[in-house]
Amino acid sequence: MPSKNHFFGKDIVSIRDFSKDDLEFIFDSTDKVQQLKPEEKSELGKGRTLGYIFYEPSTRTRMSFEAAMASLGGSSIGIFDSKFSSIEKGESLADTIRIIDLYSDVIVLRHSRDGSSRYAAELSSNPIINAGSGSEEHPTQAMLDLYTIFKEKGRIDNLNVGIVGDLKYGRTVYSLLYGLKNYNVNVYLVSPPSLAIRKESIFEYEAIMNIMHYNYLDDVIPHLDVLYVTRIQKERFPDIQEYEKVKGIYRIDEKLLDIAKTDLSIMHPLPRLDEISHKIDNTKNAIYFKQAAYGKELRSALLALILNENPF
Ligand code: CP
Repeated sequence: MPSKNHFFGKDIVSIRDFSKDDLEFIFDSTDKVQQLKPEEKSELGKGRTLGYIFYEPSTRTRMSFEAAMASLGGSSIGIFDSKFSSIEKGESLADTIRIIDLYSDVIVLRHSRDGSSRYAAELSSNPIINAGSGSEEHPTQAMLDLYTIFKEKGRIDNLNVGIVGDLKYGRTVYSLLYGLKNYNVNVYLVSPPSLAIRKESIFEYEAIMNIMHYNYLDDVIPHLDVLYVTRIQKERFPDIQEYEKVKGIYRIDEKLLDIAKTDLSIMHPLPRLDEISHKIDNTKNAIYFKQAAYGKELRSALLALILNENPF
């Protein structure tokens, strides 16, 4: 694991830019940030400002970044509803980035277009953190997903990981797969044919990873150590009739748990609709709320690393 902080002043655009060593350095920093006393932690972002722009709705990502920045002693400003900003008057992404760059030390961006964060990083003098770019990537979600697996299972290697739901449009799916490339895992992808993974986005990973494709959850569930469930995203379908055909196709309920390993860990980036029964929430298998909690800690560590040369 590298002992030096390579993330000081750096953009976080794609999980593909991170090696296994990089990820483990971030996990180790996440452990460290949780061990700091509040007065030590609040020195790491003191006097610094996080700027955010969310062109798409968010609950967890935005709030966890804000909470993380507050815990580091910093403040946050931003746009979480473009209707109440000059974006509504037609201001471009480029000009919006140029302006928030004047007022912030680090910028968190969510946008509906693939490539938006890479483009913003070219324009901004301060680091850009991709908080979701179209159907392409959500790199900090993948970091917290991998950290969650590591903390809950004690390892990432030699696990059977199932990913179910909207594999076509789900950006968290792609970032997670790109992150899992660093580990020796078996990946079971489960979706209806119309929501199958975009082959062109993973062809280089299929060559080096053990990735299997299925349509039915019952066929894979007994093998899995981790099940990563995703929402079928109505808002990304070009044709609403196609959404109607597949909505509610998978449901994680007690009946399904009967055929699963007793220590199966069920994850979800959230929000969920009806793909996970609320009856699962109180089982030891459900770790999706813990996963969201880890998100704040991991993002605290990441901000500390971006804003400070030697934070820990
Ligand atoms: N997981 C996630 O990105 O959630 P939000 O859309 O609420 O930020």
